[in-house]
This record gives sequence, structure tokens and C-alpha cells, in this order.
Amino acid sequence: MSKFFYLETFGCQMNVVDSEQIVGLLQAGGYHPVDEPENADLILLNTCSVRDKAERKVYGHLGRFKPLKQRRPDLIIGVGGCVAQQEGERLLQKLPFVDLVFGTHNIHRLPEMVAGAQRRDRCAETQFLDRETRKNLFPERSTDGNITRFVTIMQGCDNFCSYCIVPHVRGREISRPSVDILTEVREMAARGVREVTLLGQNVNSYGANEPGAPSFAQLLHEVHGVEGIERIRFTTSHPKDFSDDLIRCFSELPKLARHLHLPVQCGSDAVLKKMNRGYTRAEYLNNVQRLKEVCPDIRLTSDIIVGFPGETEEQFEQTLNLMEQVRFADVFSFLYSRREGTAAADLEESLPPQRKQERFDRLLALQQKISTLIWQQDVGQTLPVLVEGKSRQQGELFGRTTWNRIVHFEADPSLIGRIVPVRVIASMKNSQRGQLPASAEPMRQTG
Ligand code: 5AD
Ligand code: SF4
Repeated sequence: MSKFFYLETFGCQMNVVDSEQIVGLLQAGGYHPVDEPENADLILLNTCSVRDKAERKVYGHLGRFKPLKQRRPDLIIGVGGCVAQQEGERLLQKLPFVDLVFGTHNIHRLPEMVAGAQRRDRCAETQFLDRETRKNLFPERSTDGNITRFVTIMQGCDNFCSYCIVPHVRGREISRPSVDILTEVREMAARGVREVTLLGQNVNSYGANEPGAPSFAQLLHEVHGVEGIERIRFTTSHPKDFSDDLIRCFSELPKLARHLHLPVQCGSDAVLKKMNRGYTRAEYLNNVQRLKEVCPDIRLTSDIIVGFPGETEEQFEQTLNLMEQVRFADVFSFLYSRREGTAAADLEESLPPQRKQERFDRLLALQQKISTLIWQQDVGQTLPVLVEGKSRQQGELFGRTTWNRIVHFEADPSLIGRIVPVRVIASMKNSQRGQLPASAEPMRQTG
């Protein structure tokens, strides 16, 4: 008899990749995916705890499954990811309808845990694994016909930014052997993948803890050599580890997208110090300048935290000022969220919530103004677009420009997987509308 699973994923790209691994493991065990929890024998939540809001969402969603379990006691409910890592056994105590809890290093144990749950064996596995075991446990993932894929090149984080829970829930930084990365990229290319995004919490320090490993810039060169891969992205970069070699990659490697996500977090040196970010405002701006010298059409995006404990009005204005100076194409902004167990959790938050929100709104308004101007520049331009698939709108396809902007346009599905010139005719808040020029020959890659 067929068995069915329902999986919900919260949070970052790391979790997206982990969920692909979960899907792969479950499918190998004879489970088939379904879109509705009501139709599943197994419900799994892959959770995020980076901010309080994300964590609350998890509990909200879990609550929805309680009545299902009451109606069908054989239903298995499991929780994985960062909240699972943090809470472990406590989740089983708090939520009696949850059967299994698996931490960020324990995904590979899922088949045994599910088998245990079928025997009514409730359990939580959240122990961190040692380096050697982890190095060989990079995900075997589910495969499908995607044109773009993430490739995990490292896991964990050693940076301990004072506000951040990630090093606590994902463990120490570890780089995956480059031969394994290249094997995976080659296999992906052979299956029709055309764009890879190399993924890690801090890709710039790739190989730093592994004697004899290539640097991140060297790894990029190697991935660049893989035939069939037309475009390369990477995320996330840490400004403190931004090397000249890496900057040069943007002029040396034509397949490298002209987009960089470089989280600044804030524009004040005093706050950066309290955040333990390891760079100053001037150093960040210097990185940006060197990048723009090497690659004048590069577009940057960033993460910014508003209302870090003790942030003054003047310090906040330094962030706005930095945004005006850099002119990010997009900014992901977050209200500071206290995370138990982090260094910043001990700092006093004196800013009333409404003042914090008011700063957040000002930042958003400024960024919207800048973003609109930047994306509007594309209107009338013909840009190379890697076509990823069919849009929801009948007869339309979608793809991305080198700057990672989604463009929708009418075209024949035979173009999926190719880089084609698309004339941008309108720019909206989150995407663009385009048109194929009269004779749309596939383009060679220019990033
Ligand atoms: N509060 C608010 N934002 C946070 N981030 C990480 N931790 C916190 C926190 N405690 C943001 C950072 C990071 C992004 C992924 O999430 O900006 O770059
Ligand atoms: Fe968190 Fe800082 Fe590591 Fe990013 S670099 S995951 S913000 S500790």
C-alpha cells in the first residue's frame, strides 16, 4: 500500500536544501509527496528559528495538525530543522501529538526514526556530529527537472555574530570536499541544470579549516569549468572575508552572475562592533568600491537589522546613509529579534517597539525608492535571461536576469533551459515583464 508524506519548509535556502534531502530519503523509503496534510500518513515540518516570528509560525502551523492526529492516531508528525535542534526533547513534552524530532545534523536518521514512530516509539535526536562524519554526510538529494539548483558547499558557521542563533543550531563550520562538490555539479549539468548557486553561511571562508582545500575563488574557477553550467551564483558572503581573488572572479569568470548578496547588517561602526561582525563601515564600502571597479554593472543586495539593542537615532541614520551611498538593488530588512542563548540576548533593549517599527518603516520607504529607480533602468533594455520554466499565466515562461530578477514573457516552452535575450517592458515590485525580440537566438552567457 502506498504511503504519503506532506512536508512544509520554513526559513532559509539551507532549509530548502535540507528539505530536498528529506524528500530524497522518504521517496527512497516508498513515500510519495502530497500537497494537503489531510492526505498524508507522515507530516514533517522543517523549521527556522532565526527570528522570533519564524519560530512562532512553526508553533502556529503545528497546532493545525493536532486535530488530524486526534482523528487518525496512526498519523506520524515530525519536526526538524533549527527549532527542533534548539528544543529537542522539550518539543515532545510540550506537544504530545508530535512523534519525532530531528536536529540539523540528524536528517540521515529520518528513515529509522519514522520506522520507530510506526511502532509508537517517540524520539528526539539532536546530537551534533563530529567533523569527519559530517564531511561525508552532505546531502544526497531528490532530483527533478530543475534548471537551477543549490549546491551546499559548507555547513554551519563559526562567526558568532552576537544576534544570531545559527552557529548554535547548525554547529561549527565545515567545508565539503571540492571533489564531491564538482561531482554533484557535473551530475546536475548532465541532468539539464544550467545554473548553480553555491551555498553556505559564509562561502568566502570555504576551505579555511581544511588543509589543502582550494580557496573559494579557486573553487569558483573549478565550477566555472563544468560544461553545461551556464550561470553561477553564490550565497552568503561575509564582508570580513572578501578577498581580492574573489573580487577578481567577477571579471575573470563570465558565467558568474553580476549580482552579490553582501549583508551589511548596519551602517554604524559602534553597532557593527557590538554585533561582532568583524568589519567597519569603511571596510565594507571599500569592498563595494573594489567590486564596482572590477565589475561596473554589478548589483548588490543586503540584509539589515533594525533596532539592535542600544541603537541610537544617529546610528540608525548612519545605516540609511550607507544605503544611499551603496544603492543596493534590494534589501531584506529585519526587526531585531532577541534569541535566547546568543551574546546579544544579554544586552538591554531600550527602544520602545513603536520606535523600532517607525525606523523599520523609514528604512523600507528609502529602499523602495532606491529599488524602484534601479529596476526601472532595465525597462527598454534587452537582457540575457536564463529561462527556468512555465509561469502560472498560460502561454508564459519565466526566467531570471543576471541580477536575479524574475522576468515573465510569452514564449515557446522549447526555450526552457536556454539563455535568451528578453526586452524588459515593465518593472514591478518583485518581477519584470518582458518580450522576446523578433528573432530570439539563444545567447552565449555574459553573466
Ligand atoms: N534578529 C533579526 N534579524 C536577524 N538575522 C539573523 N538573526 C537575527 C536576529 N536575531 C537576520 C540577519 C541575517 C539574516 C539571514 O537574518 O540580517 O543576515
Ligand atoms: Fe549568523 Fe553571522 Fe553566521 Fe551569518 S555569519 S549565520 S549572521 S553568525
